Amino acid sequence: MRGAHLAVEGITHRYRRAGQPAVCDISFEVNPGEALALVGRSGCGKSTLLHIMAGLVPPTQGTVRIDGLSVVEPSPRWVVMFQQPSLYPWMSVAQNVALGLKFTGRKREIATRVPEMLRLVELSDYADRNVQDLSGGQQQRVALARSLASSPEVLMLDEPFSALDAFTRGTLQRDVRRIAKDLGITLVLVTHDLAEAVVMADRALVLATNPGRISKVVPIDLENRDDLRTPEYAEARARLAAAYETAAGRELESSGTGGPSATPDDDGLNAARPAAR
Ligand SMILES: Nc1ncnc2c1ncn2[C@@H]1O[C@H](COP(=O)(O)OP(=O)(O)O)[C@@H](O)[C@H]1O
Ligand SMILES: [Mg+2]
Repeated sequence: MRGAHLAVEGITHRYRRAGQPAVCDISFEVNPGEALALVGRSGCGKSTLLHIMAGLVPPTQGTVRIDGLSVVEPSPRWVVMFQQPSLYPWMSVAQNVALGLKFTGRKREIATRVPEMLRLVELSDYADRNVQDLSGGQQQRVALARSLASSPEVLMLDEPFSALDAFTRGTLQRDVRRIAKDLGITLVLVTHDLAEAVVMADRALVLATNPGRISKVVPIDLENRDDLRTPEYAEARARLAAAYETAAGRELESSGTGGPSATPDDDGLNAARPAAR
């Protein structure tokens, strides 16, 4: 398995009946095997962009290419994971993991791929269990194993861990990054959580809202992502927070509303700001 190169070229998307485009003239590239985060406040168009990149939504303008191939529909080569794991509750863990292979006519691979994927996400002992008996974090691991079973070249994640408790979230963030790096998969992560972006990504694109556009590109060069008490981690986090604030500032200017009420509490910045109340 190896990661694909991803090129987003001049993407603009306007939803029907919407005045402003949700995202406007967005272009960037992701290198094979790179982990990229799309960061920004709620409503800045992160999900729209990810859905377009996955071929789930055709853009109003622009093209997405994966290894030069224009993306026009979903494919097992580029898979998306959402906040909800969307498992079939009446099936076992192994049956859920096998689904992608089953639907894409690769049934013969099930016997080898499924145990391999369960090992990867550390759920081998749960193969025959009903998914309803698993915790939220374990269910996301099942969804991850199912996504990886088809040997994708790109894994896209849309706020996949935001429903989980902090400890489970932290473990999954590290595991997903490690697995993607081990397999060489290109990772695209959508999040409003700055800590998540720092832990998981090699680079973050910070988006501004109304319309969604790239405000800043922040490289995240961290040698050690297991210890979050290092000065390097604090420095990367502070740089990302500053870029996020700048993007929010631009929003206030362009929307003309201004005022502190325009910044919601859940923008992921609070932890970076010492007691800003
Ligand atoms: N299906 C839709 N129809 C109309 N407008 C939408 C639809 N989905 C999202 N939007 C709008 O597009 C903008 C970007 O939304 P979204 O991509 O979900 O942002 P994010 O994921 O960053 O929170 C928002 O203003 C949102 O209201
Ligand atoms: Mg979203």
